[in-house]
Amino acid sequence: MTNLLGRNLLKETDLTREEFLYLVDFAARLREDKRARRERQYLTGRNIALIFEKASTRTMCAFEVGAYDQGAHVTYLGPTGSQVGYKESIKDTARVLGRMFDGIEYRGSAHANVETLGEFAGVPVWNGLTDEWHPTQMLADILTMRDHAGRALSEVAYCYLGDARNNTANSLLVTGALLGLDVRVAAPEALWPSSDIQSLARGLASQSGARITVTEDAAQAVRGSDFLYTDVWLSMGEPADQWDARIDQLLPYQVNASLISATENLDVKFMHCLPALHNTETAVGQQIFERRGLSALEVTEDVFESDASIVFDQAENRLHTIKALMVATLAGEAGE
Ligand code: CP
Ligand code: NVA
Repeated sequence: MTNLLGRNLLKETDLTREEFLYLVDFAARLREDKRARRERQYLTGRNIALIFEKASTRTMCAFEVGAYDQGAHVTYLGPTGSQVGYKESIKDTARVLGRMFDGIEYRGSAHANVETLGEFAGVPVWNGLTDEWHPTQMLADILTMRDHAGRALSEVAYCYLGDARNNTANSLLVTGALLGLDVRVAAPEALWPSSDIQSLARGLASQSGARITVTEDAAQAVRGSDFLYTDVWLSMGEPADQWDARIDQLLPYQVNASLISATENLDVKFMHCLPALHNTETAVGQQIFERRGLSALEVTEDVFESDASIVFDQAENRLHTIKALMVATLAGEAGE
């Protein structure tokens, strides 16, 4: 029996394949129960700290709504207004919050910070995104793929295109390797995952049967893929003056109609963790349009708005999967 009581989720490899899939299954059950208005509360009276040193819409709302649905309370500690990281070390913060809260979410830059929280808080710590990993996103993405694939995950192929050294790309590579999928990564070599992360993925793949491809050839990488996945070309925390260089590197990897047809799969689906720069309706999108004349970056508007796009299913699944994670680690077998 899977029991995750008291566990942290700092990166995907904190979970075994079975534990990861247990959380995905549990999230699907919680989703059904919520939709049928028969959700049971396992976290009544618990208190959860939400540390966000970077911006968030989905992750923050998923933790808040998931906690409220389950009867827990949340306290939000934003980029300003607390002592975290300025006058108080992460290690001291961990020991203070661990005395008051039952669980702690952390989003920030340095992955070492969430590891320190996990080591010293004495309560479950969940990584809501660091520069290296985005594990709660992966739970939602695998649930979404499972919903749409129509066959076993071991027969599913997905291709990530874009900045392949970022948190989402690292996590997608390692998650597919852990679970035994066919994972392709297409990016210019300068933006490939680090050799450490590639080695980690290849080691996991040798256990799980996953297939791993990292290439500069986008057309070859997408052929036969069930899902094309991209992310913003410049992540939070990277200097805005790098936009132009990044655009020049990544335009050949834009997910557009011609890349969709290069999959040779009429049922291919488009995924994105969001937020996405697919038109000029954002401040950043408008600035780039004025400077470069590009109306879309990592994905074109026609693909984003097409029937192939399942990005809002992904976004909703953040709620169910984060809720499953909180219940499983705070209430353990009660969540089964
Ligand atoms: N995908 C994701 O993590 O979104 P937010 O940055 O809005 O939380
Ligand atoms: N790679 C992106 C993910 C946002 C959810 C970033 O770190 O900004």
